[in-house]
Amino acid sequence: MTSTLDPRHSPSQAPLIRTATDADLPAVQAIYAYYVLHTASTFEEVPPTVNELRTRWSALSAAGLPYLVAELDGDVAGYCYAAPYRSRPAYRYTIEDSVYVAPHAHRRGVGRTLLDTLIERCAAGPWRQMIAVIGDGTNTGSITLHQRLGFHHAGTLTAAGYKFGRWIDSVLMQRALGPGASTRPDALNR
Ligand SMILES: CC(C)(COP(=O)(O)OP(=O)(O)OC[C@H]1O[C@@H](n2cnc3c(N)ncnc32)[C@H](O)[C@@H]1OP(=O)(O)O)[C@@H](O)C(=O)NCCC(=O)NCCS
Repeated sequence: MTSTLDPRHSPSQAPLIRTATDADLPAVQAIYAYYVLHTASTFEEVPPTVNELRTRWSALSAAGLPYLVAELDGDVAGYCYAAPYRSRPAYRYTIEDSVYVAPHAHRRGVGRTLLDTLIERCAAGPWRQMIAVIGDGTNTGSITLHQRLGFHHAGTLTAAGYKFGRWIDSVLMQRALGPGASTRPDALNR
């Protein structure tokens, strides 16, 4: 048992970022289900099951893409991962980020630390561009977070989604990873 003077109880405690394991998936599912059911930040409408998330997580992990969780006070408070942006081969150096933080843990640096770590890990791999596909043009939290981490506005798809009885825009943001487009990709990966 820890005392309330233990630094781990401090609200300013930095989140611990680590690679997600199978055991984290129920917590990831609970966080994501909230956003599926209550917000337009994702265009999914039915929360995926833990088994479905396991299938997705396994595929990303097998492709060498990072899938991270953030712990606050010993609990999973958020997660972040990179996935292929689109499946056609010429997109192979472009990935899409996703970041979700439990509502009770907002504005404690969890999203920023997760996304910053994801960018760093992806920049160390073969990928050269990261795209954010942000559901809802009114999603100030996600738009500002991405701006803070070097993403620029790349476009807005108007009324690309329909959820909760209204049309929803999709905001595209983008940033380079590592040398971006200034050099050719690794010859082995051409
Ligand atoms: C977007 C989200 C991940 C941010 O996570 P978070 O842990 O609350 O963010 P942080 O505390 O790390 O904030 C980092 C910076 O982002 C910006 N920011 C975060 N939330 C914000 C908000 N609601 N309004 C304005 N700026 C915000 C601020 O610049 C903030 O820095 P500051 O607190 O020093 O001002 C979180 O709000 C979330 O899960 N939203 C719903 C899901 C979602 O939209 N995910 C993105 C899908 S692409």
